[in-house]
Amino acid sequence: MARITSGICTSHIPAVGAALDNGKTEQDYWKPVFAGFEWVKAFEQAEKPDVVVLIYNDHASAFDMKVIPTFAIGCGEAFAPADEGWGPRPVPVVEGHPDLAWHIAQSCILDEFDLTIINEMKVDHGLTVPMSLMFGQPAAWPVKVVPVAVNVVTYPPPTGNRCWALGEAIRRAVESYPEDLNVQIWGTGGMSHQLQGARAGLINQTWDKAFLDKLTADPASLRRTQHIEYLREAGSEGIELVMWLIMRGALGADPQELHRFYHVPASNTAVGHIVLRPAVD
Ligand code: DHB
Ligand code: FE
Repeated sequence: MARITSGICTSHIPAVGAALDNGKTEQDYWKPVFAGFEWVKAFEQAEKPDVVVLIYNDHASAFDMKVIPTFAIGCGEAFAPADEGWGPRPVPVVEGHPDLAWHIAQSCILDEFDLTIINEMKVDHGLTVPMSLMFGQPAAWPVKVVPVAVNVVTYPPPTGNRCWALGEAIRRAVESYPEDLNVQIWGTGGMSHQLQGARAGLINQTWDKAFLDKLTADPASLRRTQHIEYLREAGSEGIELVMWLIMRGALGADPQELHRFYHVPASNTAVGHIVLRPAVD
């Protein structure tokens, strides 16, 4: 049967994708950012996941004010990079896993978690930048992806507790898929950042680091963390962090922290990254 073998979270800063695409990774500003992902690149080469359930948010690329799904699952064969204003990123098309995606959709919906099914969509930096950070610049991505898009752009986003419960439902879905598949779940976005208004540029290292600590050690408190705390402490776009709780909910009790990286600044954002291994049951 399919198994979730690790959970990985990372920020998805668009400027990181642009630095990579434009050959700037060796510049003084960017070097420490990319150095922080060397560990996970080696980890991915050793782990060889078959599929990533990739939790991310779209930034008005595939969805806009006309359609705002709270949780959407990509069941298509392939997802091309979106044009976010400078042309699509020069990265491979993301290959889906329609069988697993439809299975997760069925399992979650019958588990009373009503995901929106999307067969055609483009994917933006929220999904492609984490792919680049984990896998570098290959001619084709070495993994299939089941994209799960979460609305954290237009109020109201889902609660952290609801995100956690979705993670639990995704785990049940994956573990009821009959084929032996090495599946990872990723949470993306964050950490603290605010892109507009009087507090633009806000970065709260103390709060971010406490969030990383609690992800392993005190997740129950994160389930109860209210939107207003994310906004106040981590800035308006810090709310992207609720997506990390989907990853965490899918791992169950007592995961082991394998790796962590935190760096300030990159663009307007703190870079956060963590790799967790679920406990064997
Ligand atoms: C930035 C960060 C994001 O998460 C995003 O979606 C857009 C921009 C930034 O740091 O500029
Ligand atoms: Fe974002």
